[in-house]
Formats: sequence, structure tokens, C-alpha cells
Amino acid sequence: MRTFPPYRAQVVAEIPITTREQRERALAEAGYNAFNLPADQVTIDLLTDSGTGAVSTRQEAAAAAADRSYAGSASFFRFREILAELTHYPHILPVHQGRAAERVLFSTVLAPGKISVSNTHFDTTRANVELTGAEARDLPCAEFADLDSLEPFKGNIDLPSLEALLTGPEAGRVGQVLITITNNGGGGQPVSMANLAAAAKLARAHGVPVFLDAARFAENAWLVVQREPGYAGKTPREVAEEAFQLVDGCVASLKKDGISPMGAFIGLTDPELAQRCEGNLIATEGFRTYGGLGAHDLDRVAQGLREVLDPNYLAARAGEAARLARLANDAGVDIVQPAGIHALYLNAGRLLPHLPASRFPGHSLACELYLEGGIRCVELGSLYLGTLDENRELVTPAPFELVRVALPRRVYSQGHYDYVAEVLADIAKNPERVPGYRIVDAPDFLRHFNLRMAPAA
Ligand code: F0G
Repeated sequence: MRTFPPYRAQVVAEIPITTREQRERALAEAGYNAFNLPADQVTIDLLTDSGTGAVSTRQEAAAAAADRSYAGSASFFRFREILAELTHYPHILPVHQGRAAERVLFSTVLAPGKISVSNTHFDTTRANVELTGAEARDLPCAEFADLDSLEPFKGNIDLPSLEALLTGPEAGRVGQVLITITNNGGGGQPVSMANLAAAAKLARAHGVPVFLDAARFAENAWLVVQREPGYAGKTPREVAEEAFQLVDGCVASLKKDGISPMGAFIGLTDPELAQRCEGNLIATEGFRTYGGLGAHDLDRVAQGLREVLDPNYLAARAGEAARLARLANDAGVDIVQPAGIHALYLNAGRLLPHLPASRFPGHSLACELYLEGGIRCVELGSLYLGTLDENRELVTPAPFELVRVALPRRVYSQGHYDYVAEVLADIAKNPERVPGYRIVDAPDFLRHFNLRMAPAA
């Protein structure tokens, strides 16, 4: 099948072009933390695919015609209708972004001593579980441990471990099963429908509610159509609908597959749970017909959800990720295989074997991409997941030293990605030149957003 992006640029934004000297200064001033960089010092911003997608003319037209009524806004009814058709959930609550959905749902479902079990909790998801006093436990499938294997569904939850937990001594503590599609903390890998159905069945059999973290539901559906036996003839929309119906509800940031700068929702089947969440929502986020969103965002999301399941769009987006993955491999940089859609995960540990985990090779590669080419991306390795002692020295490294290169939706084109691959190739020619980093200062909670680093001597 020939694919190309089924849209063209109609309005564009200028890209900042900087000198190496400017970037060295900006990164030093940022404490060598990409989250502290001013965006006008970033040339290609691959920090996240969240809220960074390009909106369509239809989305902007819908946003311009939004109804700003406090209660009963027509924009809300459009938002609810599209989500109810997609999920078949009777209860749809708008919230301003995914972490607000997490906070509202988890503070209703979880409590101190409870366990939230997941294929992998995303960082803010884990934080919102922990803020309720519960424990966030990740049970990724065994196939994920081999970064190079071409297993199609390395985002799955490990079913034997889930069953052991639900039948073992801690069974009474399990408050929810949360399946993240696609598995952002787990290499952006998809979850199969077979795995999702089996996990839901296990949870139900033990009276535990099961929810989706559905931030990338459309991209997961596309990968199911491509990779899972029995799904090749289905549309991504049919697969997405089936996924939502396998579980009791969802939290979903709509800044990803809603292709919107802001927005999220909670979808639920249980009326009593929905009512309790609604009380929390009204007290903390906003009334039930806007949930902290502007009316324009409700309409942007509703239109974005119409666009995101277009097979031509998903094919082009998946093709773009696969092409960049090939270019990275040609440049001598291994990625977590097989390539997903929303991001590539570069194997920095393998590229920079001269750097021990305590010198954070993932972070070093991310810094080098910025210094060499103004490309911003983020470490997913020991800096993010390892444990530190009181002197901020690494004691337990993460299992992998990765860099996530996220691909914003409809924003960059082949020329930009060719440039990224050229910068990667230049780094990969002399990887031993790349210095390690040490931590200067790191807060205990969500440390990767706020830490300050320095090049190691
Ligand atoms: N769940 C997943 C799987 C996510 O990837 C994110 C955000 C959230 C929940 C929280 O949603 O940002 O709307 O509050 N991920 C972004 C990222 C930030 O870069 O991966 P949010």
C-alpha cells in the first residue's frame, strides 16, 4: 500500500535555528535538564507527542464555533457524543488533562494499602496512584526484557504474574488493574486484544475493576490491525471500540490521540462510581459539562477524534516512525524493536558502552542530540527509574538505558526526520566522545522533571 500524510500544511511556525555556542549556554543554564530549556532554543522538539500535534482547519473551525455556556454547553454534548459512540460507556466526564482524570478516578477507587497493577504505569500515573497512599506495581510481560526481539506485543501485561497476584496473599489489596495502551513506559509497545481480554477476565473473576489508560488508543488499534492474528480485516475504529468494551472504563489524555493541545476524559460503565467521580470532578476540576476545559478544547477534541482513526492517517504516521527507525539503525543506533508509533526508544546503553549506568548514558545521549543538533528528547533509564542514595549517587540502575524520541502528530516531515538521523549518525561515528553526567541536585518526588546535572569530570 502506498502511503503519504493525508493533509498539507496550511499555516506554519518558524523553527529556531541556533549555534552550538548558544546551545551549550542554554543547556548549561538549564542544569543539563531538557525540561528546563526555553523552547525558543530548541530546533526539533521531540520531547513529547502530548499536546504538540498540529490541529486541522476543521478543528479550528469547530473551536471557533464553540459554546461557552457554563452548564449544558453544546460543545460538551458534541464531545460526549463522539466519546460515547467510541467507547460505548454511558458515563463520560471531561477533565483538563490525563493526570486530572487519574487523580479523580484513583482517589475514588484506591486507598492507602491498595495496589494498582499495570503493564506499566506512566510517570504521572504512578505519582497519582502513590498520592492516594496506594502502591503502583508494574508487571510488564517477559518479552519486553529483550529489547531486540521482534515480538509484536511487548506492551502486554504479564498474565501469569497477574494471576499469581490475584490469587496470592496480596489479592485483597488489589484495587485496580490498569492497562496502558500503547505502553508508553514500556518502549511504546502495543498491547494485544488477546492479552487485554485475558487480563480483564482475570480481574473480573476476582472482583477487581479493570481500566484502560487509553491515551494512545488509536495507535494501539492500528498496531493490532497490523500485527494480531484475526484482526487484519478490521478497521482501527472497530478494534478501538472492542478494546473499550472489554474493560470497566478508562482514563485518557486527549492531548495524544485526541490531537488537541488540551483535554482528557474519564469513561465509566458503573453509575455509582461515575457519580462519586463526578462529585470529585465538580469540586476540583469544574462542572460536569466542561471539567476544567475551555469550550473550544471540547470541540477541538471532538473533531480530532474523528480524524485520528482515519486509516490513511494512521498508516502514514506508522510509516513515518518505521522510516525513522530504519534511518536510526542505518546510522548505527539500535532502538527498542519493533518500532511503535508515538516514539522511538534509542538504546543508549548499547551506543555508549564507555559510560556506566551511574553516568547516565541515556541522559548523555539526549544532551548530545541537543548540543549537536538542537534536538530535544528525554531519557528513560537510570535517571528516571533508578534509585539513588542520600548523596544522589545511583545505587540501583534501571534495567535499560534508553532515550525516548517522541513524534508529534502532523508536525514534522521527512526532511526534519532526515536531519535527526544525520545528527544521530554523526554522534554514532564517535560515541566515545560523549561525556557522562552526574546529578547536582534532585528532588525526591518526580525528580526527572526538576533535577540539575553537570558533565562528569
Ligand atoms: N498516561 C499516559 C500513558 C501518558 O503518556 C500520559 C502523558 C498521561 C497518562 C498523562 O496525561 O499529560 O494529559 O496529563 N504523557 C506525556 C508524555 C506527558 O510525554 O508521554 P496528561
